[in-house]
Amino acid sequence: MNSKQGPIGVFDSGYGGLTVLREIVRELPDYDYIYLGDNGRAPYGSRSFETVYHYTLECVQHLFRMGCHLVVLACNTASAKALRTIQQNDLPRIDPERRVLGIIRPTTEIVGDYSRSREVGVFGTAGTVTSDSYPIEIEKFFPDIQVYQQACPMWVPLVENGEYDSEGADFFINKYVRQLMVQSEGIDTIVLGCTHYPLLEDKIRRSLPPEVTLLSQGPLAAKSLAGYLQRHPEMAAKCSRGGNREFYTTDDTATFDRQAGIFYGHPVQSRRLTL
Ligand code: DGL
Repeated sequence: MNSKQGPIGVFDSGYGGLTVLREIVRELPDYDYIYLGDNGRAPYGSRSFETVYHYTLECVQHLFRMGCHLVVLACNTASAKALRTIQQNDLPRIDPERRVLGIIRPTTEIVGDYSRSREVGVFGTAGTVTSDSYPIEIEKFFPDIQVYQQACPMWVPLVENGEYDSEGADFFINKYVRQLMVQSEGIDTIVLGCTHYPLLEDKIRRSLPPEVTLLSQGPLAAKSLAGYLQRHPEMAAKCSRGGNREFYTTDDTATFDRQAGIFYGHPVQSRRLTL
């Protein structure tokens, strides 16, 4: 590996970003990746703007120190609450040559291609919903679309605790689906605006009218990253290509390894990162 090159960093508050890494690796298998899950401090979804920003910046700086030139925030909450400040205020000071990309834009820039009714729903954490990032970003690309949001504060805890397939999950899925769908009968497309939610996708689909399109972010983020690397050959040249994957967690590694395989689709062996 050229010493000026480094792996692509993928960050999430916990396990959810692994559903994105899985798709990125499928789309771009040759690159090296470091995944960092801040499980020790998850969930982020109910935390304040300042806390999410502070935690996210700390993890991004760690990934930079591990050699990453490019970091993907595979977390909607971090993208909603920390990305802009990191891009505009911190990167020019830390290293203007490094890049941090978020997960909200790859979805918002294509959502209009799916909706015929021009009414789109978004499921997200309380943090993502109160930030209004989805309505603001969708408006930039598709001003004719009306966005309806639903916070789902119980979904991340269900997933983080391995309860995503339980009857308890059915109760909270039906509850939030109902609360979104009563906002308008015209909703024909729904964004799963949290990287933990793909584990609940089958249950969510079953709870929705069959004609509603459900958009999962992993494949969209992977395509968007591939496009970014094509448009930015100078950044692609800084990303090493040895097919390596490393996994770090800020909590217990044995627990992480047990859970992570479900999200990533392959067995995972992690190392502990002390922040
Ligand atoms: N996976 C994160 C997201 O996409 C949220 C999980 C959390 O609340 O920490 O928003």
